[in-house]
Amino acid sequence: MKALVTGGTGFIGSHLVEALLQRGDQVRCLLRKTSDMKWLKGFSIEVTYGDCRDRTSLKEAVKGVDQIFHAAGVTKAIHEKTYFEVNALGTENLIQACLENNPSIQKFIYLSSQAAAGPCRNGNKKSEPDPCEPVSAYGQSKRRGEELALAHAHQIPLLILRPCAVYGPRERDIYTFFKLLSKRIKPCLSGEDQHLSLCYIEDIIRAILLAAQSQTSSGEIFFLSDGQDYRLQEMGDIFARAMEVNAYCVRVPKWVMMRAASFSEYFSKVLRSPPLLNKGKVEEILQRNWVCDITKARRVLGFEPRIPLEQGAKLTYEWYKKQNWL
Ligand SMILES: NC(=O)c1ccc[n+]([C@@H]2O[C@H](COP(=O)([O-])OP(=O)(O)OC[C@H]3O[C@@H](n4cnc5c(N)ncnc54)[C@H](OP(=O)(O)O)[C@@H]3O)[C@@H](O)[C@H]2O)c1
Repeated sequence: MKALVTGGTGFIGSHLVEALLQRGDQVRCLLRKTSDMKWLKGFSIEVTYGDCRDRTSLKEAVKGVDQIFHAAGVTKAIHEKTYFEVNALGTENLIQACLENNPSIQKFIYLSSQAAAGPCRNGNKKSEPDPCEPVSAYGQSKRRGEELALAHAHQIPLLILRPCAVYGPRERDIYTFFKLLSKRIKPCLSGEDQHLSLCYIEDIIRAILLAAQSQTSSGEIFFLSDGQDYRLQEMGDIFARAMEVNAYCVRVPKWVMMRAASFSEYFSKVLRSPPLLNKGKVEEILQRNWVCDITKARRVLGFEPRIPLEQGAKLTYEWYKKQNWL
């Protein structure tokens, strides 16, 4: 089997490349000339250069592969339009390149996001048939990417995966939470506690591989998580236990987060580097229910999460320590 992975230098993509190689696949990675290859060092991969925003640059990348794993995406950007250029139009470009240069592709997996569907409004878990109500430009761009992909579901066999917040080695967002805990600060939101889904990277990778093997019909969408419903405070407690620290809950009011996002956005424009926090991210953080339902992934893909949060937190913390990130 020959696979193309986009986003192979990233958190999820690099773990996926590793798993595909372990499965015995030949792996081609679409990289940019500026891509940092540190997580791909030592892997026997074929490299092709291109950018999702430039359709012609994708032509050689898609030729002759059996499966495409589209994990390239922008989760932080200086300008909102970048989300749409990469996450939405970039997906359309890759599919078009595939239709023109490899129309007999066996599977196209698009890594979307729970953010494309938005938070759960009815108090239950969000499931695939629920309406999509993304609350950030990132979420809207991922949903647009889904819509553009779905328009081609009759032309190529494609599946859309919507992972929740993924954590594990090499991850840099939830890492901030670990960093604060290492300073004995457990950030808590003011008011009612938030509910969320989480998943350890190893489980996400297994779900992606199951989706690639599945015979289910083109155009199906699957939420992915470890199947649990966590409260934000509970997550902090579990991480703190894994790190063996006593952390103190520091309540952060909404206005403080919004002010921090404004500063962060301002400096990101000055420094020309994506902000750590932006108003869209704050809007996402403030939603009360980010729990998704993985019944469909269990039933159709045979996905069964294996790593509970306690174990995943320990593995992640040990990796951060080994890398001197903490
Ligand atoms: N991490 C999560 O919790 C999570 C949850 C749900 C969904 N997702 C989705 O999963 C995917 C991977 O996420 P991640 O956390 O692994 O992100 P990441 O670590 O930021 O990696 C993003 C990857 O996309 C590549 N990329 C960005 N812009 C590109 C472009 N214009 N052309 C080609 N490649 C480009 C980057 O390449 P360079 O090295 O060149 O920058 C990098 O390899 C994303 O689509 C994201 O939306 C992630």
